[in-house]
Amino acid sequence: MKLLSVSSEAFPLIKTGGLADVVGALPAALAPEGIEMRTLLPGYPAVMERIKGAKVAARVSALGVEARVLAVTEGGLDLFVLDAPALYDRPGGPYTDATGTDWPDNWHRFAALSFVAGEIAKGLVPGFVPDLVHAHDWQAGLVPAYLRFGGAHQPSVMTIHNIAFQGQFRADIFSQLGLPDAAHGIDGIEYYGDVGFLKGGMQLADAITTVSPTYAQEILHPEFGMGLEGVVAAKRDRVIGIVNGIDTTEWNPAQDPHLPAKYGPRRLPKRSANRAAVQDAFGLDDGPEPILCVISRLTWQKGMDVLADSLDDLVRAGAKLALLGSGDRGLEGALHAGAARHPGKIGVKIGYSEPMSHLLQGGADAILIPSRFEPCGLTQLYGLRYGCVPVVARTGGLNDTVVDANMAGVRAGVATGVQFTGVTRTALIGAVERTVALHAQPDIWQRIQVNGMRADVGWEQSAREYAALYRSLM
Ligand code: ADP
Ligand code: GLC
Repeated sequence: MKLLSVSSEAFPLIKTGGLADVVGALPAALAPEGIEMRTLLPGYPAVMERIKGAKVAARVSALGVEARVLAVTEGGLDLFVLDAPALYDRPGGPYTDATGTDWPDNWHRFAALSFVAGEIAKGLVPGFVPDLVHAHDWQAGLVPAYLRFGGAHQPSVMTIHNIAFQGQFRADIFSQLGLPDAAHGIDGIEYYGDVGFLKGGMQLADAITTVSPTYAQEILHPEFGMGLEGVVAAKRDRVIGIVNGIDTTEWNPAQDPHLPAKYGPRRLPKRSANRAAVQDAFGLDDGPEPILCVISRLTWQKGMDVLADSLDDLVRAGAKLALLGSGDRGLEGALHAGAARHPGKIGVKIGYSEPMSHLLQGGADAILIPSRFEPCGLTQLYGLRYGCVPVVARTGGLNDTVVDANMAGVRAGVATGVQFTGVTRTALIGAVERTVALHAQPDIWQRIQVNGMRADVGWEQSAREYAALYRSLM
């Protein structure tokens, strides 16, 4: 079976978050299922830089913009790259300029991507006609519309990685999308009078998936559905939650080039060299208190405001913190201030660093994830694999992937982390206190680490679920 996957990010070419990790890992995960997956990506400068030898597979006029579809294998992925300089050749990130402001023509940039996916489905690229198209998040949300209204016959799957980002634009862009008026109805891409990319994708796709079973339930409710709960409810029998896996080659503590000491579940004491490297890098004291790390976008979703308010209590509870993150400028200031108040106990690095994220997973004692909502979350999965015990809010994929070290979990020998309910300072500090208490009992702590390291966090099971879904739609 041939599949086209359409996304605005894919590791290792371009990444701002977990979407890239998932889209980058899916093709290899699906290959054993007999699925050949190609990924269509925008030709951002960072992507173009890496694919210099790419061949021109087709030329296309993409919603008024002259573009080329380049074909190349790079970073282990079979790619189609949409080379459209007028849309993508600019400094800044995939979605924003260097100041963090959304590009005003984002609707055009991602509608064009989806349009070209539709053209590929109709045979634009000789030799590759997909049997099904898999669209990720709002940036690929118009794919089902271009398939349906463009006369392609293939079914589509729409995956919601985060329903908080919906791609909603003013109604007047509709006339420039090249879609018939029939597409602008309540059962199409119309959304409260505007145009909704994700809403349209959900409405028109043959199946909707999201990235954990708990999140699939949560988005039926307004608090999590963020306005789209009605669409989720109406499509309820077509919405399934398939939990993300991780790339266990890229994330393998026994062979990780970013770790001073490699280790596995039977050589846990070797982690102490990595722990020392974390202390050095973050200016933390030597001492027995557990080092909690955070690797995160600094946003409200991730509960980083609550964390910033809890720093004094966290230190008082007997923990240390090493934080790597970027995002909200106000939060950065509050975190730096906390580090200044607690030298040796709190270290903060603002920025994005793949190597540092590996070092933290391989050296910190625990990873703190106080998300208000979390469709799946990947850093807790990396934490499990690395013996960096996840301390997580009980929501979305965090609920589905971590077994709480409550009394029953510890006695049964199955606990893999700590969960807490509600993202408040009290709940967060309660979890930190429990973590400190567990860490002070080495036998129990090591059991939790080893359980996590042995947990199945790979793609196999989820790849089977995707493959079964694709087959059911053929
Ligand atoms: P989300 O996609 O909502 O940000 P996930 O947990 O699914 O959350 O994925 C986040 C990904 O981004 C992980 O691979 C994580 O390691 C990475 N990441 C987040 N912040 C940073 C950072 N500052 N430096 C390096 N990697 C980061
Ligand atoms: C989104 C979600 C995150 C999920 C990732 C990959 O960024 O916020 O929870 O892990 O997508 O599916």
